[in-house]
Amino acid sequence: MENIKTQQEPKKVTNNEVTKVAVAYGDGIGPEIMDATLRILEAAGANIQPEKIEIGEQVYLSGNSAGIEKSAWETINRNKIILKAPITTPQGKGYKSLNVTLRKSLGLFANVRPVTAYAPYVDTNFAGMDVVIVRENEEDLYAGIEHQQTQDVVQCLKLITRPGCEKIVRYAFEYAKAYGRKKVTCMVKDNIMKLTDGLFHNVFKEIALEYPEIESNSQIIDIGSARLAANPENYDVIVTSNLYGDIISDIAAEIAGSLGMAGSANIGTNVAMFEAIHGSAPDIAGQKIANPSGLLNAAVMLLSHVGKTKIADTIKNAWLTTLEEGYHTADVFQEEITKEIVSTSEFANRIIENLGKVPKKLPLSNLASGNGNIVIPTYKRKKQKQVLVGVDIFINWKGNNPNIIGDALNSINSFKMKLKMITNRGVKVYPDGMKETYCTDHWRCRFVDVNSKIEGQKIYNQVDFEKVIALQSKLHNEGFEIIKTENLYEFDGKRGFSLGQGE
Ligand code: NAI
Ligand code: MG
Repeated sequence: MENIKTQQEPKKVTNNEVTKVAVAYGDGIGPEIMDATLRILEAAGANIQPEKIEIGEQVYLSGNSAGIEKSAWETINRNKIILKAPITTPQGKGYKSLNVTLRKSLGLFANVRPVTAYAPYVDTNFAGMDVVIVRENEEDLYAGIEHQQTQDVVQCLKLITRPGCEKIVRYAFEYAKAYGRKKVTCMVKDNIMKLTDGLFHNVFKEIALEYPEIESNSQIIDIGSARLAANPENYDVIVTSNLYGDIISDIAAEIAGSLGMAGSANIGTNVAMFEAIHGSAPDIAGQKIANPSGLLNAAVMLLSHVGKTKIADTIKNAWLTTLEEGYHTADVFQEEITKEIVSTSEFANRIIENLGKVPKKLPLSNLASGNGNIVIPTYKRKKQKQVLVGVDIFINWKGNNPNIIGDALNSINSFKMKLKMITNRGVKVYPDGMKETYCTDHWRCRFVDVNSKIEGQKIYNQVDFEKVIALQSKLHNEGFEIIKTENLYEFDGKRGFSLGQGE
């Protein structure tokens, strides 16, 4: 099988090889924390060769609505690794989110956010928390495909793909293996979204079998997030889709008390981007008091990603030692714990002095113990038989009695295609609807072959697409306003569509 490495030749990288990195200094506190971080990397012998890129506020305000210069794309494509300080997105309309642009253009499919509690040095209720959230980054509701279809109704398409699920789930297990993690938890809502979240869950169960040494379990996202918030110590690696991951990533960082401490990675097949999770903190910019820890932890992730796990550990352990010694930036000051409030650069100096030391109380960083080698195979599409068995036709109709539109559609028999049912917002309203069901102007009308009957998984007879088109012509000629259609398929004899509630 042909393999794509998500890492730059991880096995061959030695800890003193030059790593070229596209570096964005960002806005607000960005330049201050980037200086501190690069100084620590240099002192640790990380051998990073930074190449500056222009992105962010100034680029936006110069009239570039994407916030990134063309030359920056060239630098990124040459270096493949990005270290990015936070940027300020100017207020007002027309500015596109730079993070979304980078993520989508570069195919950064995995958003990885380790969230650790550093009690008692950082205030938290969850001393033992050490969770890594692996969030799918490219699809789901974030595909951004939205339409207003009628006066009453707007929709957003939730797209989940098999290749997308395979990549992210495998990445989560490979990550666990590479960094000595013990358990991967999948979070979905497949009791409701049986096809979309069901696919994610099924792929999780399939791939989990390939990693018997790693414990795996699944939770429904609502109770899962509640449990994460109540007992984060029970979680190790969590893998989930885009929207759920967005939400639980913030829950996790918030309860760990480490919004200013956590780094994150956006991993793609060819390019990877590392950044702090906080923003550009304009309120404290220029005051030399910003905490560089978030960006530094992102840089530690960068180093382990390229295989420099030893140097990553050295830096992380020096950082942990500095926290233990009580040298803290103002944002993490605690009366009993902090020995001295230090500036951004003094904090960096302390870390540099501590290179080579290991923490006495906080858990030691030991990234070098894992194999650090993450390989994601390319997707192979399996052959399946796809059979058209009907069509859902969505009609804009301003009446409110389902029996009127139902009886009218029911009298239509076009080339042996016949109305099976009508739903409004997913609830069956014809035939035999409940009169309490509220109806909008958005009617989903299911048409199938007149002779279809349900036999096990096989539901409807095959129809041909010409009949589907003829049916639409007929409906149009009879005065119905079609707003969209959705073909009904079976794949290898399995229904590829949900039934209406009450169907
Ligand atoms: P923020 O994270 O910049 O600030 C929230 C609060 O945390 C502020 O009080 C700030 O002073 C403090 N804070 C944040 N990082 C800190 C650090 N390293 N050390 C000490 N204190 C720190 O969030 P906010 O205020 O909502 O956003 C400010 C700007 O940042 C906005 O323009 C926003 O669009 C942008 N932003 C950029 C991100 C990125 O580039 N990845 C991510 C989030 C926000
Ligand atoms: Mg978010």
